[in-house]
Amino acid sequence: MNRILITSAIPYINGIKHLGNLVGSQLPSDLYARYMRLRGHEVMFICATDEHGTPAELAASKANKPVEEYCQEMYEIQKNLAKEFRLSFDYFGRSSSKRNHVLTQHFAGQLDKNGFISEVDEEQIYSFTDKRFLPDRYVQGICPNCGYENARGDQCENCTKQLDPTDLLEPRSAISGSTDLEVRKTKHLYLRQSLFRKQLEQWIDSKKDWPILTTSIAKKWLFDDEGLQDRGITRDLDWGIPVRKGAEPWPGMEEKVFYVWFDAPIEYIAATAEWADANGKSDTDWERWWRLDKGATDVRYIQFMGKDNVPFHTLSFPVTIMGSGEPWKLVDNIKSFNYLNYDGGQFSTSLGRGIFMDQALEILPSDYWRWWLLSHVPEYSDSEFTWDNFCEGVNTDLANVLGNFVSRVTKFCSSHFGNKVPENHGWTDLERKYTSLIEQNLVSYQEFMDDIEIRKASQSLRKIWTLGNEYIQEAAPWGIVKTDKSRAATILNYSLNLIRLFGNISSPFIPDASVSLLGIFNSEDRPVWPDNVNSALNSLHVNQEFQVPEIIFKKISKEDSERWKLKFAGKD
Ligand code: MF3
Ligand code: ZN
Repeated sequence: MNRILITSAIPYINGIKHLGNLVGSQLPSDLYARYMRLRGHEVMFICATDEHGTPAELAASKANKPVEEYCQEMYEIQKNLAKEFRLSFDYFGRSSSKRNHVLTQHFAGQLDKNGFISEVDEEQIYSFTDKRFLPDRYVQGICPNCGYENARGDQCENCTKQLDPTDLLEPRSAISGSTDLEVRKTKHLYLRQSLFRKQLEQWIDSKKDWPILTTSIAKKWLFDDEGLQDRGITRDLDWGIPVRKGAEPWPGMEEKVFYVWFDAPIEYIAATAEWADANGKSDTDWERWWRLDKGATDVRYIQFMGKDNVPFHTLSFPVTIMGSGEPWKLVDNIKSFNYLNYDGGQFSTSLGRGIFMDQALEILPSDYWRWWLLSHVPEYSDSEFTWDNFCEGVNTDLANVLGNFVSRVTKFCSSHFGNKVPENHGWTDLERKYTSLIEQNLVSYQEFMDDIEIRKASQSLRKIWTLGNEYIQEAAPWGIVKTDKSRAATILNYSLNLIRLFGNISSPFIPDASVSLLGIFNSEDRPVWPDNVNSALNSLHVNQEFQVPEIIFKKISKEDSERWKLKFAGKD
């Protein structure tokens, strides 16, 4: 038994996430966590909401709510949706927690003590009307490049040019519209990442098993001149973690907070502490996952995230850990993902384009989405959601292959033998052949899951389901039951055992269906991983009762899919 720490990139608080967000981190990490638990490992699976930064402030002001209240409400909504998608976090924390405040300030203090923080004078726009400094997005004005009138301080949406707020012509406050602004000097803290180039390079080079997507992004940023520059880690905002050196004040920094990307990854650690607090556990209980001096040397730590998050996890966050000079656990493997597109374009939160987590569950249960998304996860390139493709995947894999097998077998058995498991009178070559085919595919399935090759794992699982159908087709009990009842009994015994096996091995992908499949035999059964396929296919007791289930997966009709296609086309 190993100890496996798994974190998913923590979603921004500002709004309900779409399926592209879900498949880029939370869902695959859940698949892996469920699988590792099933294989008997001790798992700690952590996620949280990412609550700081300008997007949170802006979303709250748009919703006309104080930011604390907005975050609290959105946190509950995201936490609940995660539960409905069956994301099996051991803890879903909040980056605004007390624990994260203390830890973030602690790391900053350590980095400063070790000489990895510098203080830099910057020019920034101050608004007299708003009585505050305005960060990038809070300043609007005319783009010096194309003349667009509503360019933002970080970028012009019209010509995409990256801007500094001081570049804008006729600048105004995005909060009040006021033009009563002045450029002032203000001091910010910088993390001296550039000092870590060699150390990061050696560390990344030592990771032979990282996916190419992760390594290529990490290397690009490491060697790009723009990449490993020292980075500002403070901001002039009200909402965030106040800048302190550990428990001490930081002179000159009284009005500032840490930059959201500094405190967010620290929340992985803080959320594990929140888990301990919420469960009446002690500090040693969470430290054994994170502190090498408290037992974390035998932890394997895997992070999941979208590709845009990779630089922060391969450079900035490791620098925070390394620079602390303390024995914190560094990540062992980083599984990153490309993007999922929606019907010929992008998912867009602002345009309401695509499917959002709450809407998805209004039309179909979570297993339908889990299966399709995971079997089409954008692992080696971007992938695309189309309604035709989605319906095809659900109708074929879930309804025709898996669902149909289960209902054929249970109904046929029920009408010829009653609702009791018939006796196995001895396998023939046919059962031996299928057992060995299933065994081979189960080995591949396991290997792909161990290597986090999600698409390939889904293909092996689908193949195993298909073998069930091929078996029953070839065994053809429909005629045999009239001439050779004991042979038919053996075929049905074998088929019912297959259903149970499917229930056990499918649960990482489709946990609810797995409960239904196992519930056919015993409503108390929890999934267990089969150590030996031979004995797993002989595990039902003769005469054990079973239920003919309700339809496990229903087909999606053409009308429904046409209707949904229109409904989710977006506002544009
Ligand atoms: N909120 C970020 C995003 O959605 C991810 C933050 S991951 C963490 O892109 F490292 F900061 F935790
Ligand atoms: Zn422009």
